[in-house]
Amino acid sequence: MKISVIGCGYLGAVHAAAMAELGHDVVGIDVDAAKIEQLSQGHPPFYEPGLPEILASAIGSGRLRFSTDMADARGSRVHFVAVGTPQQQGSNAADVSYVDAAVTALAPHLSAGDLVVGKSTVPVGTAGRLAALIDASGSGASLAWNPEFLREGFAVQDTVKPDRLVYGVRALPLAEEVPLVEEGSTKEAPSRNQLGAAGFETAASRASSTSGNHPDVDTLNEVYAAAVASGTPLVITDYATAELVKVSANAFLATKISFINAMAEIAEVTGADVTQLADAIGFDTRIGRRFLNAGVGFGGGCLPKDIRAFTARAEELGRGQSVAFLKEVDAINLRRRQRVVDLTVEALGDTVWDKKVAVLGLAFKPHSDDVRDSPALDVAVQLRGLGVNVVATDPQAIANARGRHPQLTYTSSLEAALEGADAVVLVTEWPEFAAIDPVWAASIVRGRVVIDGRNRLDAVAWRAAGWTYKGLGRP
Ligand code: UGA
Repeated sequence: MKISVIGCGYLGAVHAAAMAELGHDVVGIDVDAAKIEQLSQGHPPFYEPGLPEILASAIGSGRLRFSTDMADARGSRVHFVAVGTPQQQGSNAADVSYVDAAVTALAPHLSAGDLVVGKSTVPVGTAGRLAALIDASGSGASLAWNPEFLREGFAVQDTVKPDRLVYGVRALPLAEEVPLVEEGSTKEAPSRNQLGAAGFETAASRASSTSGNHPDVDTLNEVYAAAVASGTPLVITDYATAELVKVSANAFLATKISFINAMAEIAEVTGADVTQLADAIGFDTRIGRRFLNAGVGFGGGCLPKDIRAFTARAEELGRGQSVAFLKEVDAINLRRRQRVVDLTVEALGDTVWDKKVAVLGLAFKPHSDDVRDSPALDVAVQLRGLGVNVVATDPQAIANARGRHPQLTYTSSLEAALEGADAVVLVTEWPEFAAIDPVWAASIVRGRVVIDGRNRLDAVAWRAAGWTYKGLGRP
């Protein structure tokens, strides 16, 4: 299938390459000429394991090309919109201007039968508004919302083999009243959740109970043929639900992390160990152990801005109270960054201005060079602001961090970062940091104090090597 992908950032570049790998004929379009140039040469403008390989193979096969010209979307049957929706300056709300601009620029190039597929994370109600915009263009194209759940660091795998697919499709005009079960039919009655509020089948429910009667579902099934054939769970629904699925999934994950970090705060005043607590509650399969790692908290381009945008949108809808807890989730998360700073200052003693601190990590999580809203970078910047001589290192994120905070001192050498340090702060759990030999590190630092902001180090081994070990929520 001929596919265009509008927006070639973390989401779009991976999506374009993955779609081409799946056999589609893809053009990736972005307004950033430098990015398009890099991608055309097979170089991703960011670090993502596995992406250079599929980019090279897709470009080599002739099935993937990049362009800055929206007219190159012409002729594609499916147009994915994968542009960013960052937090607005001075507000919690999402900035949807890039999505609006992308769809407005795409509209004149659409033809009847084309399907525009939104992948960006948007405030609920956006898809309905964009569908009206596409309708007004008179092209005869339609819109579906197909949220993306990929994790940075695992983006290729998550795109090629998603754990679920969600299609938000427009309601088709209903024929008279559709009986729930035809007389004499052996077909099972649709389940309650397949039914619209009125008890009649909705367009989406009809599409989910029988294949082949919603053209946009058929088109998406063709795009994701491999995933669909392998039995990937598929939820076919309306626009609003699809939009909400995405933000509520991220809100749930953020809440889970802040929950365990709140327990860490309690553990800190009671002498309990939050890592053991997480193990113990995680054995309950209703709770699960994943996303229960207490530490310096969540960051990145998604979780923080998504919970803020969700709160802002709910307030606009008069339902601010329903998600008011997300403000606490955000506050707990930010307190954990402060906690790491406080522990470090405490460890340095009376004066901080002449002390060297090795900050291990800058990316918001390992296997990524993304420093957007990174707790690690935030901690480094706060310590620097207090006058500490911060020397920061990260296997991939130094260039991005330097671009945002040139005032920090960076080194790509772990040894240089540790040498003569008065304290060591681990804030991104890269495997190479977790694997540091505490005996070796003890021999090159000045002060044997380690603050483990991700609870990843072996406290027993580090203490045995003469270190004062401080975890988060651990005695
Ligand atoms: C997140 C979601 O996990 C994806 O499903 C979603 O598609 C994506 O946002 C998005 O909206 O695009 P991502 O931002 O790549 O993915 O990162 P996560 O793996 O979710 O990690 C987020 C943050 O939480 C990181 O800073 C990580 O260090 C932190 N975290 C994660 C914890 O502090 N504790 C945990 O137990 C897990």
